[in-house]
Amino acid sequence: MFDFKNKVVVITGGSSGIGKALVNLFLEQGAKVAACGRDFDRLYQLQALHPNLPLFIYTADVSLESDCKAFIEKTIKTFGTIDVIINNAGISMRALFAETEIETLKKSMDINFWGAVYCTKYALPYITLNKGIIVGVSSIAGFRGLPGRSGYSASKFALNGWLETIRTELMNEGISVITVCPGFTASNIRKVALNKNAQPEDDSKLDEQKLMSAEECASHIYKAMRLKKRTLILTMQGKETVFLNRFLPKLADKLVHKFYFKNGELVK
Ligand SMILES: NC(=O)c1ccc[n+]([C@@H]2O[C@H](COP(=O)([O-])OP(=O)(O)OC[C@H]3O[C@@H](n4cnc5c(N)ncnc54)[C@H](OP(=O)(O)O)[C@@H]3O)[C@@H](O)[C@H]2O)c1
Repeated sequence: MFDFKNKVVVITGGSSGIGKALVNLFLEQGAKVAACGRDFDRLYQLQALHPNLPLFIYTADVSLESDCKAFIEKTIKTFGTIDVIINNAGISMRALFAETEIETLKKSMDINFWGAVYCTKYALPYITLNKGIIVGVSSIAGFRGLPGRSGYSASKFALNGWLETIRTELMNEGISVITVCPGFTASNIRKVALNKNAQPEDDSKLDEQKLMSAEECASHIYKAMRLKKRTLILTMQGKETVFLNRFLPKLADKLVHKFYFKNGELVK
């Protein structure tokens, strides 16, 4: 089992939701953690919770290659190496494709897919030396296209394909590449999901209280990383969706449509 004590763990999107829960968990386990996000205040508040622990925070927009490069370089300056990267930063969207500006889809790809590619590219030489772990936080939407989330699903399908490729390429290097697919998890993601004009809009109808907590999700991810699992699919609903889509795709089309639409309107 992989031991994270004194290991350097990079977490993108560490200021909120699943990423924040991962930061707290890896610090508790004795890791040195580097976390990024766009909002400095939220990162600073997180750091203030752990005054005596090795947490490096950096303001970076992962959709910008130069920010990702600088984040990884500053992490190396701070901790000297990188053992693990968790590509977690992400945004969602909520708008029908026919009504959506292309910008909404592009932003989803830039953050959810390219952000992971940029950060991993610059961290890879160190992870290779340390025979470390690369994690991509994808989604059930990376296995099954979801209505209102065309750009989000596309970015997560792209992420899954890229992770599968590098897992195979790096097979004999002792590096683990893990695809993590949370189901619905309580976080900030739906409050800032992009609308059809690529602007954040809180228009979710889901009751966050009924969803898996970000802490539970982080704990499942941690366990999967300890065991160097290949894929982690979370929540019963998530597992059922992936299973059904694989073996009965036509039925999955109907059931997914029923879940997301009422009287022809997107409801979730
Ligand atoms: N919650 C769910 O139901 C769910 C389900 C499946 C998959 N996921 C995936 O889980 C991951 C984490 O999401 P979450 O649910 O925890 O959402 P969240 O609470 O909104 O957190 C997202 C994190 O990503 C950061 N982020 C967003 N855009 C960024 C950018 N351009 N550059 C750098 N950081 C950025 C945010 O910080 P700033 O805003 O400060 O940049 C924040 O720290 C995402 O990849 C998401 O797709 C979530």
